[in-house]
Amino acid sequence: MEHVVERRGLGPFSVAPIGFGAMRLTGPNVFGPPPDRREAIRVLQEAVARGVDHIDTAQFYGPDIVNELIREALHPYPRGLILVSKVGARRDARGGILADDEPHQLRRAIEANLRTLDLEALPVVNLRLMRNTEPDSFFDEQVGAMISARDDGLVNSIGLSNIASAHLTRALQMTDVACVQNFFHAASRESQPLLEECTRRGIAFVPFGSLGFGVTGPDAVLRRREVVEEAARLGVTPAQMVLAWALALAPNMLLIPGASSVGHLRENLAASGVQLDPEAVDRLRAM
Ligand SMILES: NC(=O)c1ccc[n+]([C@@H]2O[C@H](COP(=O)([O-])OP(=O)(O)OC[C@H]3O[C@@H](n4cnc5c(N)ncnc54)[C@H](OP(=O)(O)O)[C@@H]3O)[C@@H](O)[C@H]2O)c1
Repeated sequence: MEHVVERRGLGPFSVAPIGFGAMRLTGPNVFGPPPDRREAIRVLQEAVARGVDHIDTAQFYGPDIVNELIREALHPYPRGLILVSKVGARRDARGGILADDEPHQLRRAIEANLRTLDLEALPVVNLRLMRNTEPDSFFDEQVGAMISARDDGLVNSIGLSNIASAHLTRALQMTDVACVQNFFHAASRESQPLLEECTRRGIAFVPFGSLGFGVTGPDAVLRRREVVEEAARLGVTPAQMVLAWALALAPNMLLIPGASSVGHLRENLAASGVQLDPEAVDRLRAM
């Protein structure tokens, strides 16, 4: 029987349910070059060879470094590869993360992404909010800058990141929204109502931190007893457990787990073939 690869919507595009988050292909704290540049290139090439057609990036990862790696590893890009970037932040000389979110700065960052990735148009760009404020006239101006970039052909589709539900409602009065990118994983579900709203509206929900940022820290989701036990019972790894759980939550869920080694990448991509039973689903839901 022919193996049918599942596709899920990302604005006007359709992509595999598990993509790749490229932020980890840097030095520590997402700053500076990766310790092993050849491995970073290999991770990107292996991802695409294994069917990844959705890669998440930003000019401020490195800064510049991740976009340059993507271009070096993958340009000329295969047909159907959806590169998604985000704008709204920049790094200072010591790696601090600063807002870069005035409308003219958003435009400049979109242009920088086009240059470093060597693209004429970015398939999707997320407006990444850096201020913890309700939607206001400044937010309208930011969305307006994204719409202008799209009208000028620099961007195909607009996404939103680090938002509250009110931002989505406001933005939808101005434009279509392809995706929402917020922090979310099995043990941290503050954005669940937003996920549900995106599901109702047919907007892709693309969580970052879907692995809880890895195994570091006492609260790491990959070390949680429920995850470790259920993964062992089903013969999968903790990472596969939490990714498969998230994928099964909603048809508009698209994952972009980060990894800096080919080993982690392969393990994570294999989660798309993992079937959870109701016991595992319930146990993670109850966390
Ligand atoms: N919109 C935003 O504000 C925002 C914020 C953060 C991130 N993002 C995007 O979301 C993507 C994903 O987020 P993230 O990378 O921060 O977090 P994540 O996907 O939750 O976790 C990545 C971490 O998990 C580790 N890991 C990967 N696979 C593993 C496995 N199978 N077993 C154990 N550990 C594993 C990685 O280690 P190794 O590096 O050693 O493989 C890395 O430290 C980023 O790459 C970025 O594109 C967006």
